Amino acid sequence: MEVVIQKDSDSASKMVAKMVARAVKIKPDLVLGLATGRTMEPVYTELVRIHKEEKLDFSACRTFNLDEYAGLSGENKHSYRHFMNRHLFDHINIDKKNTHLPNGTAKDLVKECADYEALIASCCGIDLQLLGIGSDGHIGFNEPLSAFRSRTRVQPLNKATIEQNSPLFDRPEEMPRHGITMGVSTILDSKSCILLATGDAKAEILAKAVEGPLTSMITASALQFHEHCTIVVDEAASVKLQGKEHYRWVFENEPEWAEFR
Ligand code: GLP
Repeated sequence: MEVVIQKDSDSASKMVAKMVARAVKIKPDLVLGLATGRTMEPVYTELVRIHKEEKLDFSACRTFNLDEYAGLSGENKHSYRHFMNRHLFDHINIDKKNTHLPNGTAKDLVKECADYEALIASCCGIDLQLLGIGSDGHIGFNEPLSAFRSRTRVQPLNKATIEQNSPLFDRPEEMPRHGITMGVSTILDSKSCILLATGDAKAEILAKAVEGPLTSMITASALQFHEHCTIVVDEAASVKLQGKEHYRWVFENEPEWAEFR
């Protein structure tokens, strides 16, 4: 795992967009894992800009989102499908049939989850997975006590997540109480991943996830198992990290980061 600290949320999200753009240039048929949430919005804005101004080509990419609300169709403006169309897919040259999210209104959700895993496997797995972190330390909708070996499944959402996300609904009580999410193990299978955390509200949980003990109470801590995981944070989200000076030194001195400095 590596931690990169940027001065503010704007530069942190632009850096993540640049890392994605570089991956797409290197492998035009990249299998890209995507995340939703407020943190990701500026990343997608920047990717749209790079597509329009620098002609970044998404035509051969396939995407898989981490999660979706159970019970919401893609037409529902609160669904993650709707979020992805609005913030990214409608503005780039990706073929929508190559963009995948779990179907929240599938009749048989257990089958839907198994099919989602099979579809990821049929694309030879996810090359690069983007992640945010929930206020309870979740990745995707892997709430506390989700098994590190979990795969895509239906997950009841806990109180912290409902408090975090329900203000985004017109009527907060309409927020679904279940999500369909890639499992922790599905995420760990990605070939590389980037977790972006910005703002002081994430500082404490981020430090626990990155530097604390491995625990299924904070599913983001499972990323300590990942062989190619980069944590990108702004100053505000970094304040509780003990190893800040070391992370800064690596970023300033290691040749692999030269193009991002
Ligand atoms: C939701 C998503 C997560 C995301 C989290 C953070 O719960 N399921 O994948 O990481 O929100 O959201 P935000 O970026 O709005 O803080």
